[in-house]
Amino acid sequence: MDKVKLRTWTPLSWRTFPKRQMPEYPDVKLFEESFRELQSFPPLVTSWEIEALRKKLKQAGRGEAFMLQGGDCAETFDNCNSVHIVKLLKVMLQMSFILIHELNVPIIRVGRIAGQYAKPRSNDSEIIGDEEIPIYRGDLINAIEADNVSRKPDPRRLIEAYQKSAMTINFVRALTEGGGFADLHHPEYWELDFMLKNKYYKEYESMVRSILNAINFMEKLLPTELVTLKQVDMYTSHEALNLYYESAQTRQVPHTPGWYNLTTHLPWIGNRTRGLEEAHIEYFRGIRNPIGIKVGGKVDVYEIIKVIERLNPENEEGKIVIITRYGRDKVTDQLPELIRAVQNNGLHVVWSCDPMHGNTFTSSTNYKTRDFEDILEEIKQTFMVHREMRTTLGGVHLELTGDNVTECVGGAKGLNENGLSRNYKSYCDPRLNYEQSLELAFLIAKEWKYRNGNGH
Ligand code: PEP
Ligand code: CO
Repeated sequence: MDKVKLRTWTPLSWRTFPKRQMPEYPDVKLFEESFRELQSFPPLVTSWEIEALRKKLKQAGRGEAFMLQGGDCAETFDNCNSVHIVKLLKVMLQMSFILIHELNVPIIRVGRIAGQYAKPRSNDSEIIGDEEIPIYRGDLINAIEADNVSRKPDPRRLIEAYQKSAMTINFVRALTEGGGFADLHHPEYWELDFMLKNKYYKEYESMVRSILNAINFMEKLLPTELVTLKQVDMYTSHEALNLYYESAQTRQVPHTPGWYNLTTHLPWIGNRTRGLEEAHIEYFRGIRNPIGIKVGGKVDVYEIIKVIERLNPENEEGKIVIITRYGRDKVTDQLPELIRAVQNNGLHVVWSCDPMHGNTFTSSTNYKTRDFEDILEEIKQTFMVHREMRTTLGGVHLELTGDNVTECVGGAKGLNENGLSRNYKSYCDPRLNYEQSLELAFLIAKEWKYRNGNGH
């Protein structure tokens, strides 16, 4: 095989490989200082949490669990505040209740959170007025303000991203472990009215009632300390794009072999950085974390197989999550070929569907948007292909927020292109808002039932 290239791996061995989407820091001394500082900080997550997630993902690969992965396209330093974090957790928790209720399997919650600060871009620069300036690459790299100075890659942002991630994860842990979330399942915290005019309202309302009844029943029946709802798992994930950030926190831990990326539980490789002989794959082959791989656009199936084999030479279950993001009209054309290749090579993967990134368009009012219908349709098509090929869809990957933004069109409220300007906040891709997210969870649950033959 390709043994020749596979020399000794270190957290920094990727540096001699072709790099894509990586910043070049003009101030080398400041970069080196920042890198060392980041290396000296304690980790954000632990190896045993990462191992626990791998076990759960193994179940998802077998159809015995389902992963709900979601959050902002890009987190921003400014949005590292309690309101934003609580709202994301709330919507993820409520979506997961809907899914548990209908799917009857454990739901693995994974936020695009506590480190989702770097963005791949199609162009290196943009024209503002009559000046060409470097493109914004996410708060981990440079600042959004449109001038040459703000757009210079700033290594101190490695430290700030770490600090903001630490604050975020600290609060997420407090909310999910300390019972601080217990309130969120009470009826007054579920906003249902937006569905009133929808044909599914009755079904939706009765599902939520039944979820709430089940929760109340458990609370009454079980002594407080046994109520598992007081402790909910929430894992973290981000696109591991800036390999300096990732490798500074890649460590060996006592009594366990191998290296872990301790910035996050589930790092993923973006669609633009998955070249077999390139820096990102070299970095990822050395870590024990489960790894997401985005697959869409122009896909060389043979190369994807090589990538999977390179990243998971022992073919362990729960290690590789393939996140397909073809776009609603391309799924039936393209997904079967990839599934067949994975099957023919006997590879274990967890299949997830990102119905967002292949369905982006510019509205007539000039906003980058997505249509709720397209998102739902891609999920339906993906469910259908997996069913036909006797594989399991083990999760979905969504860009969403608990905030009341107007970035995607459609959904029960019927947001149209003229409404986008009302509260469009994203610097990057358009997210589903609270109501659209709950509705989508409800419709995914319906689809699951239908595909599993017990729907109508
Ligand atoms: C993303 O998840 O925000 C993203 C950039 O996705 P992709 O790599 O699939 O384009
Ligand atoms: Co995005």
